[in-house]
Amino acid sequence: MTSIPAHTLNDGTALPGIGLGTWPMNDTQAEQAVRDALQAGYRLVDTATNYRNETGVGRAVASSGVPREEIVVTTKLPGRHHGYEETLASFEESRRRLGLEYVDLYLIHWPNPGVGKYVDSWKAMVKLRQDGLVRSIGVSNFTPEHIGRIEKETGVLPAVNQIELHPLFPQEELRAFHADKGIVTESWSPLGRGSRILDDPTVITVAEALGVTPAQVVLRWHVQLGAVPIPKSADPARQRQNLDVFGFELGPAQMTVIADQVRRRLGGDPEQHEEL
Ligand code: A2P
Repeated sequence: MTSIPAHTLNDGTALPGIGLGTWPMNDTQAEQAVRDALQAGYRLVDTATNYRNETGVGRAVASSGVPREEIVVTTKLPGRHHGYEETLASFEESRRRLGLEYVDLYLIHWPNPGVGKYVDSWKAMVKLRQDGLVRSIGVSNFTPEHIGRIEKETGVLPAVNQIELHPLFPQEELRAFHADKGIVTESWSPLGRGSRILDDPTVITVAEALGVTPAQVVLRWHVQLGAVPIPKSADPARQRQNLDVFGFELGPAQMTVIADQVRRRLGGDPEQHEEL
């Protein structure tokens, strides 16, 4: 079984270098996919309250046969529950649906600047970590301005920021900011949702040269950037393929050419996106 190199987060905990995304699976699909993934060697699983599949993810963790302490379970706080007390209550609901004593990584899903309460939520996240209910706390879709604000008001930096990152949207500036602050970058939609990127002639040429698949090239690109991709796949063969990206390397020219594309987001802009 592939051994997955880990990152050490700024709170001292370990984060596997790749994980499984679960959006847009329902409970039944997530239960099957997460169980398959854990048995294939995945140790990082990513869900969210808004994915509505925490129950399925929790069932898979319980029935996988993999020791609980080896698995990093991530879930996320939705925008409609921003606020101090609301965050504590929302977390408790997530924990109940997951059927877990503790959650490994808890993220604020979107900053929702229009709601204006992410600092209050962050204070609640700090409390959840102090109480041992969460091992690590982080954010998702935060800009340097949002991160600067929570740092200024609480003195606590997120361990990770999970952002849209793929060859069509390589996020150089935000990644440099994270590196400067000691924040690990996690990549959502790392394969660009399987769309144009995997059919891109440049990516295919690199894949053929290395004797791997286009998806493996793109995931390896993330790994070499120092980011943690969480590709979604419900297919056991693809899950195994996506995990097998630690036995080859992209050269500097291959790294550059893969992201030499017209830039475009596939998801929301954190400054405007209001996901409740
Ligand atoms: P499937 O679940 O049928 O495997 P992202 O993680 O960027 O959102 O991309 C997920 C999409 O990419 C899904 O549609 C998934 O389909 C597809 N996908 C995942 N892994 C691979 C792979 N190794 N090769 C081709 N498509 C993949």
